[in-house]
Amino acid sequence: MSADLAPGSVVLITGASSGIGLGVAHELAAAGHHLVLAARDRAALDRAVESCVRLGAASAIAVVTDVGDDEAVARLVETAQGRDGRLDAVVSCAGVASYGRLEEQPTDVVDGVLRTNLLGSISLARHTLPVLRRQERGTLLFVGSVLGHVATPTMTPYVVSKWGVRALARELQIENRDLPGVRVEYVAPGGVDTPIYANAATTGVRGRPPFPVASAEKTARQVVAALQGRRHASQLSTANHLLRLGFTAAPKVYDAIVTPAFRVIAAERKPAAPGPGSVLDPVPDGHDLSGGHGSGLTAVVREIKRAVRGS
Ligand SMILES: NC(=O)c1ccc[n+]([C@@H]2O[C@H](COP(=O)([O-])OP(=O)(O)OC[C@H]3O[C@@H](n4cnc5c(N)ncnc54)[C@H](OP(=O)(O)O)[C@@H]3O)[C@@H](O)[C@H]2O)c1
Repeated sequence: MSADLAPGSVVLITGASSGIGLGVAHELAAAGHHLVLAARDRAALDRAVESCVRLGAASAIAVVTDVGDDEAVARLVETAQGRDGRLDAVVSCAGVASYGRLEEQPTDVVDGVLRTNLLGSISLARHTLPVLRRQERGTLLFVGSVLGHVATPTMTPYVVSKWGVRALARELQIENRDLPGVRVEYVAPGGVDTPIYANAATTGVRGRPPFPVASAEKTARQVVAALQGRRHASQLSTANHLLRLGFTAAPKVYDAIVTPAFRVIAAERKPAAPGPGSVLDPVPDGHDLSGGHGSGLTAVVREIKRAVRGS
């Protein structure tokens, strides 16, 4: 472990009750840190606390928080510091997704995705940076996405939110250059097998993680490495580089193929029942380390076979 996150550090994680955030909590628990876990669903957060304590956390507390509520985020940060007056690291991981053409998505869903993913990240930064700057040390890490670098059909609110998170991280890296002990980190996962896809709001499109799919555990190890300054590459999947290259170097080709490719690589054929998913309220029983999607390869092969048969 680098000196940056000594055992017994105090770490605040949002979105800590499921998927990548839960994986990060487990990694840090096993390293003996004090954890402050935040998300909206009390029962899922309590389960996360129990598993962290079992794994060896020095301590773990649940603070039910909607990151879209700025006052709640202020209270969360106050509680986190209350332990012993300091905050060593903060992981901004809470996130939701929605599918559907922009004009067909309900207004509250569009606003909800932006509120959690973008405004929630901004609130967390606004309330934690004064603490880190006062201490003159500490790390704030944002979990972005490869979709903060490229465009994809039927995911406008999510894509806009993740481009915003990337911009936020870059702004704050510049604004905090004066204090070398205060680090702002950003990572962009590719496809990760978590419940976010099943919990997404939708007008009918049923999304799934694009191939190649990483596990939440593997992604969590990469996030923790970045948090500790041991990983400098922000892209967490090699496929991200390919996508970004296509998007920037050959935009016309990218635009022509992204919609059919999305259907094969990132969506199920069977439509989903329309609804708000976890965007407006947490989905009970919608929290887990894994989303049960596997590597994604079988689904891609199945879709290609179907397309070939169809043509
Ligand atoms: N899975 C992927 O393929 C992938 C790829 C790239 C980036 N990411 C990013 O990784 C992060 C974690 O996603 P995941 O895939 O691990 O999803 P997940 O398993 O669905 O976990 C999302 C977490 O965020 C919490 N959350 C949602 N809305 C919240 C709110 N308003 N306030 C506080 N907590 C909230 C959820 O709990 P409650 O619902 O109980 O609040 C849950 O703990 C997100 O930022 C996502 O955009 C994921």
